[in-house]
Amino acid sequence: MAAIATPPIDRIGVIGAGQMGSGIAHVCAVAGLPVVLGDVKPEALEKALGTIAKAMDRQIAKGGLTEAEKAAALALIGTSIDYAAFGDCDLVVEAATEKEDIKRSIFKALTPHLKPSCMLASNTSSISITRLGAGTDRPAKFIGMHFMKPVQVMKLVEVIRGIATDEPTFQATQALAERLHKTTAVSEDFPAFIVNRILVPMINEAVYALYEGVGNVAAIDMALRLGANHPMGPLELADFIGLDTCLSIMQVLYEGLSDSKYRPCPLLIKYVEAGWLGRKTNRGFYDYTQTPPKPTR
Ligand SMILES: NC(=O)c1ccc[n+]([C@@H]2O[C@H](COP(=O)([O-])OP(=O)(O)OC[C@H]3O[C@@H](n4cnc5c(N)ncnc54)[C@H](O)[C@@H]3O)[C@@H](O)[C@H]2O)c1
Repeated sequence: MAAIATPPIDRIGVIGAGQMGSGIAHVCAVAGLPVVLGDVKPEALEKALGTIAKAMDRQIAKGGLTEAEKAAALALIGTSIDYAAFGDCDLVVEAATEKEDIKRSIFKALTPHLKPSCMLASNTSSISITRLGAGTDRPAKFIGMHFMKPVQVMKLVEVIRGIATDEPTFQATQALAERLHKTTAVSEDFPAFIVNRILVPMINEAVYALYEGVGNVAAIDMALRLGANHPMGPLELADFIGLDTCLSIMQVLYEGLSDSKYRPCPLLIKYVEAGWLGRKTNRGFYDYTQTPPKPTR
């Protein structure tokens, strides 16, 4: 079989400058790729640049980066709230809020500004790549690239092909992941893919254990840290991921697989309704305004 030409990626766009988008911009810039980072909120872009600089300082402290490499990487990151800035990108990675209507509206507004050859990736944790791709003008060049948090630390990228994704796009994302020093796991396009299909129902089960009074927050996290050798307890991990993101993933599993075993725990819903979303709002299953963080139940 003839070798398939891999489209070169010389310039990357990242849309959504939150926890994940800033991490993706970080690793791309450290790998020497010029990046344009976009968001609806100018203040999110400013915050992201600060977050990236701080994360690079932690890498410097651990000997993983030099001051000169940090300066060179930061110089490669541009920011914009205007989609026209993505016009010369070879790949745009969407890492905005986990809501299908938001992602759809981003692709609709973005694609008229892109080169015809530009590929699109979504960092969605759970939404169908086939469906998101079908809503764009380029389903063959649409793929899932699911980075893990924190992006600069975690080695895995799940690569998810939609039904229409072509081979050059698949090969190009594999090559990019390698350039970012990541290892890929290829997942079929089913709800929540591999990692979250297994991880988030475990977190939801931990919230049920809390809800039913099997154990309190401290006991549940201690049990899994010491009893199963997990580096973080499931409730601590839920706060780290974001409780709104965990809930969205459970809803996608519940609706997408039509199986009651994926029903979100009412207590998880209540925390999200309260705006207690975990670390990003300083309160979730723990209160992060206290040192050490204090369990909220
Ligand atoms: N948090 C995790 O552990 C994790 C891990 C892997 C993947 N993901 C996925 O990554 C994506 C982002 O998650 P996050 O945790 O970074 O969320 P976040 O809330 O930290 O950031 C989302 C960003 O998207 C921006 N945004 C919202 N609407 C927008 C629009 N119309 N145009 C441009 N930007 C817009 C917001 O202003 C915000 O800055 C989601 O799809 C999520 O499922 C999250």
